[in-house]
Amino acid sequence: MSASTPFGLYVHWPYCQRLCPYCDFNIYRQRDGEHDDLLQAILADIKAHGERIGVPGLLHSLSFGGGTPSLMKPHQIRAVIETAAKVFGFDENVEISLEANPDALDDEICQNFANAGINRLSIGVQSLDDTALKFLGRDHSAAQAQKAVRAAQKAGLRVSADFIYDLPGQSIEEWTRGLSAALALNLAHYSFYALTIEPGTAFGVQVQKGRLNPSTENHAFDLYALTQDITAKAGLPAYEVSNHARSPDDQSRHNLIYWQNGDWVGVGPGAHGRVNFNGQRTAMVSAMRPDAYCNQVKGTGWGINEITPLTREDITMEALSMGLRLRTGLDLYGLKTRTGHVINQTKLQSLIDEGFLQLHNTRLSVREKGWAVIDRLVLELLT
Ligand SMILES: C[S@@+](CC[C@H](N)C(=O)[O-])C[C@H]1O[C@@H](n2cnc3c(N)ncnc32)[C@H](O)[C@@H]1O
Ligand code: SF4
Repeated sequence: MSASTPFGLYVHWPYCQRLCPYCDFNIYRQRDGEHDDLLQAILADIKAHGERIGVPGLLHSLSFGGGTPSLMKPHQIRAVIETAAKVFGFDENVEISLEANPDALDDEICQNFANAGINRLSIGVQSLDDTALKFLGRDHSAAQAQKAVRAAQKAGLRVSADFIYDLPGQSIEEWTRGLSAALALNLAHYSFYALTIEPGTAFGVQVQKGRLNPSTENHAFDLYALTQDITAKAGLPAYEVSNHARSPDDQSRHNLIYWQNGDWVGVGPGAHGRVNFNGQRTAMVSAMRPDAYCNQVKGTGWGINEITPLTREDITMEALSMGLRLRTGLDLYGLKTRTGHVINQTKLQSLIDEGFLQLHNTRLSVREKGWAVIDRLVLELLT
């Protein structure tokens, strides 16, 4: 990896005050105490990564995700940031972001986050309608979410807000109102996610028992198209399937590392990483449960319990499925140089002819018709 290739660190904090009925992330109910055992394991894991994979470059981003990392104490956040700075070093424009739930965010907490070194907050607003928030099992109201956003801005943080749409029964008119309330926050970055019903979640069980009627694919597509239209008119076009920014500077630098198939280290329970290890691009996965993760670090020095060297086919598949999520797509020439793997030219031409993909010089990107079926397009290109 060259010195300028973006390199990131992801820290997974798995605890949540309450488990939301739609969420299937690697999450656990918050217990009493500060989970200092987990913090110590994470710090040791970062150091072990520095020793075992080396230092690929300065960190362009450090991202605290979850779970609810806004439940971490400022001294814990500071300890992670200081360790990351010591082990890998920070690029001068490093993005240090944290996912936050709005319920506990006030001026003091946001200022504490900023003082600890956080410079971007991604706030899980989900909706600005109290009935929808209740349906989603959230602990905050619309007014609290608005207050949280203002508190983060007051502390000088870059702010993004997550929203969930396509709730069962949500009409075009309702989401039009929801979107305009979201845009009235006047932020420079938004993530708009269509609700997915995940097996094993409370919503998944309700759907299975016929107590909840999920939306249809066609309706989801209509709401997606509406989202594209309204956000573009508001100067916040999608730069990725679900992510919108006012300008390139406002984009999520951390997520761009994933979408551009860069390298990152993942620490914390269940975290994934992609790094150059023993001369080969390698997928690493940490032990899932917090206790298993802490034991793994104690026993082996780091949290990793799965190490998979990636084949050129794996790398091509990941680069395509992540890169095509970006509006700007990906450079096929760069991909071929990197992996030596050639995609199916006949399929490529027919997907272009059918209006799913477009090729400008060597840059391949998805056209509007293809946004909802990216995974299928990737499979076709690789067969
Ligand atoms: C890992 S969650 C963490 C955010 C934070 N704990 C919160 O809830 O505010 C990141 C985002 O994923 C989105 N999300 C999670 N589960 C989803 C689902 N089943 N469908 C759509 N979006 C989902 C939510 O918008 C959420 O804010
Ligand atoms: S949506 Fe956020 S708060 Fe809710 S369970 Fe998932 S990670 Fe936790």
